[in-house]
Amino acid sequence: MRYHAGRHFLQIPGPTNVPDRVLRAIDMPTMDHRGPQFQILAREVLDGLKEVFQTREPVVIYPASGTGAWEAALVNTLSAGDRVLMFETGQFATLWKKMADRLGLKTEFISGDWRRGADPAQLEERLTTDSAHAIKAVCVVHNETSTGVTSRIPPLRSAIDRARHPALLLVDTVSSLGSIDYRHDEWGVDVTVAGSQKGLMLPPGLSFNATSAKARTAARQSTLPKSYWSWEEMQASNTQGWFPYTPATNLLYGLREALAMLREEGLQNVFQRHQRHGEATRRAVRAWGLELLCQVPEEFSNSLTAVMTPPDHDADHLRRVILERYDMSLGTGLGKLAGRVFRIGHLGDFNDLTLIGTLAGVEMGLAAAGIPHRHAGVLAAMESLTEPAAAVGERRAA
Ligand SMILES: Cc1ncc(COP(=O)(O)O)c(C=O)c1O
Repeated sequence: MRYHAGRHFLQIPGPTNVPDRVLRAIDMPTMDHRGPQFQILAREVLDGLKEVFQTREPVVIYPASGTGAWEAALVNTLSAGDRVLMFETGQFATLWKKMADRLGLKTEFISGDWRRGADPAQLEERLTTDSAHAIKAVCVVHNETSTGVTSRIPPLRSAIDRARHPALLLVDTVSSLGSIDYRHDEWGVDVTVAGSQKGLMLPPGLSFNATSAKARTAARQSTLPKSYWSWEEMQASNTQGWFPYTPATNLLYGLREALAMLREEGLQNVFQRHQRHGEATRRAVRAWGLELLCQVPEEFSNSLTAVMTPPDHDADHLRRVILERYDMSLGTGLGKLAGRVFRIGHLGDFNDLTLIGTLAGVEMGLAAAGIPHRHAGVLAAMESLTEPAAAVGERRAA
């Protein structure tokens, strides 16, 4: 391996670049997780997280990746044989469904083409026919990291309400929390699943469940086996500032710093920054003459963009060329999209120049890989970024 001068561009849609402030915060001697200093730290992060989830409800922190938090959401609220309704929006929805099957739940998977989000009309129709209320939970991936599609949670919530159905609403925000507006309480979500390594700008290793009173009531009746993931013990310990087992102490230092950074910038400004970068990236893609995977403008993801390569052009070859020549990692096509799309991550600790550098790497890579395109993407993105914010807002409203 030869040395590459300059910083590697990590532009996969997570794990994202960890800001120096967070790295410095993590770089601390190991602490006693049963001592008074820890108690202060734990209380700070458990409270601070609520702001990011936009909730007043307790949030559970696991020393685990997002997959662990998926499992926790299911095993805490459901019982063997319970029926669960899920939407095939992409690879992560498919993996969550596989997990539910393995746990002994009866899944119904509403099929999809991986180019749009979960459909509220389909949800309402299915729940309306379930007059016996056999369906116990509806699971939705808010931001499908494999496709760059953001499902709209409020209309899905309204669909459940219109059907007068008591199913729990479980939402995966692994690649949206801290980058795309998300409101656990206002949107009536029962369990929100999230991870540390994307919008929260931390390394992988922490994941979260935000809960609702209804979810906690369901947890008391749920019979799926649970031990490590049990909310009951976790929440009982957390109220005192403790964890029932060894927490990832140094990552919690990092989390405290990341929460401070999000607070300093202001959550709404964080969302707006991601919106600007999402919009500029999409304009670059169109200017190159390439196709966005997401087909529904209201569902464009502001944390990543999945781009289709023309037929007969392997997206993984393009990614390899870009990595070799420009030391930049882009997201690969997952599952049935392998070789057909590449994904540009524009989330986390990310600014205008990071975006322009990223898009320049893609544009140069397209030329180097011999993929037909117009050399106009970076320019289109720069024009988008230098437009007054008001103009962008007006055009969006039109
Ligand atoms: C939307 C979504 N859900 C779940 C996961 C799984 O999380 P992890 O890989 O941290 O276990 C990911 C990972 O990228 C994801 O993007």
